[in-house]
Amino acid sequence: MDKYLTLSETAELLGKNKETLRRWDRDGKLSAVREPISNYRVYRKSEVLELFSDFVQVDTKEPISNAVEPNYEYKVLELFAGAGGLAIGMEKAGLKCVALNEIDKFACQTLRKNRPHWNILEGDIKNFNFSKYKGKADVVTGGFPCQAFSYAGKKLGLADTRGTFFYEFARVVKEVNPPICIGENVRGLLSHDNGKTLQGMISVLDEIGYGVVPIQVLKAINYKVPQKRERLILVGIGKDVTAKFEYPKPYKKIYNLKDALKKGELFDCNVPKSNGAKYPQSKKEVLDLVPPKGYWRDLPLEIQKEFMGGSFHLGGGKTGIARRIGWDEPCLTLTCSPAQKQTERCHPDETRPFTVREYARIQTFPDEWEFAGSLAQQYKQIGNAVPVNLAREVGYSIVKFLNDYYNLSNPK
Ligand SMILES: C[S@@+](CC[C@H](N)C(=O)[O-])C[C@H]1O[C@@H](n2cnc3c(N)ncnc32)[C@H](O)[C@@H]1O
Repeated sequence: MDKYLTLSETAELLGKNKETLRRWDRDGKLSAVREPISNYRVYRKSEVLELFSDFVQVDTKEPISNAVEPNYEYKVLELFAGAGGLAIGMEKAGLKCVALNEIDKFACQTLRKNRPHWNILEGDIKNFNFSKYKGKADVVTGGFPCQAFSYAGKKLGLADTRGTFFYEFARVVKEVNPPICIGENVRGLLSHDNGKTLQGMISVLDEIGYGVVPIQVLKAINYKVPQKRERLILVGIGKDVTAKFEYPKPYKKIYNLKDALKKGELFDCNVPKSNGAKYPQSKKEVLDLVPPKGYWRDLPLEIQKEFMGGSFHLGGGKTGIARRIGWDEPCLTLTCSPAQKQTERCHPDETRPFTVREYARIQTFPDEWEFAGSLAQQYKQIGNAVPVNLAREVGYSIVKFLNDYYNLSNPK
C-alpha cells in the first residue's frame, strides 16, 4: 500500500477536507482508485505529488515562508527594548537598529554586551527627545507597559494620555514620523478597562496621523516558537501612505519543548549548561510526584489538600499549579520568574525550574546571547521578551511593507 495514500492522508497532506476530495474525484480533478478488499478510496501517491507538487511540498515541509529581502537598508528605533528579543528579531529580518531606549541598567548591559555597536540610550524614555531621528528611522517599535487612561468621556487626544508609557511611545512616533510604527503588548490590552484603553490608543494614533491596521493577537507557536505565548500587535500606518501592512502568515508546524532543548530543526545542538533556580526541598518532594504534562490534580489527594491549602476547595482549574511540562508539548508561557506557584513550569525529567539557557531557548534567543545581572534579573529579562522567532516574522512583514512603501514613493 505504500504507493497509495488513504483518503485521510491525502486530505491531511493537501489541507483539504474529505468532501472536497470526493468532489475532486467526481470532477476528475484528482481521481481515486478503490482498494480491492475494503473498497475504500485511495489515491496514487505519484499523482497527488505530481498534480500538487508545490502544494504538497509546502504543506508537509514548510507551508510558507514570510522571509523577504529588504530593498534598502531599513532602520528601526526600538523603545522599551528590554534584553532585545524584539530587536534581535528585527535584526534577523534584515533591519538595522538606529537606537534603542531602555531604563533597566541590567537590560542595557545585556544589549551592550551582545551588540557593542548598538546605540543604547539608557534611561527613562521621558527624558529623551527623539527629534534628531526624524527621517532616520523607517519604523518605531516598542512594547510599552499597559496602563489605563483617565477619561472625561471625549475622544482621547495625545495630551490626555500624558504620564503613561503609551504617551511616550506616541510622542516618539510623532517626533520621528516614520511611515509605520508597531506597538507590542499582551492580549489583555484587548479587554483592559473594557476595551477603552485600546480604543484610546487608536484615537491618539489617529490624532497624530496614523491609521491603525485591524489588531491581531499572534500566537507564538505559529511562528517557530516552542511556547504557547501570545502577543498583541498594534500597527500604525501614516495616513498619507498607500503601502499595505500584512501580518506574517502562520506556519503549520508546531514545535515543542524537545525542539527547544535538544538538537533539531530549531537549534543545532542540545541546550548548553547554565545556572538556574532551584526548588526548596519541600516543593521538590511534591513536584517529584507529578508526571510530565501533569499538575496538582495528579498528586495523591492528601498531598493535593496540603499543597493547595485554602484554594483546594475554590473553583477554577488552576492548571498552572505544580505543572510539569512534557517534552512533546510547547512550553506554557514563561513569566518573569521561573518558579511561581500559579505558573509553575517544571522541567520534564528533572524536578527543577528551567535554567537560564533553557528559558532563553524557549523564547528562541540564540545560545550566544548573554544576559547580564543576577539570576533573577536574567530570568526577568528573558520572561519579558518578545520571542525572537516571532519578532523576526513581524520584522519580515515590516520589510515587505517598507519595500512596497519605497517602491510606491519612487516608482521606476
Ligand atoms: C515588556 S519589556 C520589553 C521587552 C522587549 N520588547 C523584548 O522583546 O525583549 C518592557 C521594557 O520597558 C522598560 N521600561 C519600563 N519603563 C521604562 C521607561 N520609563 N523608560 C524606558 N524603558 C522603560 C522595562 O525596563 C522593560 O525592559
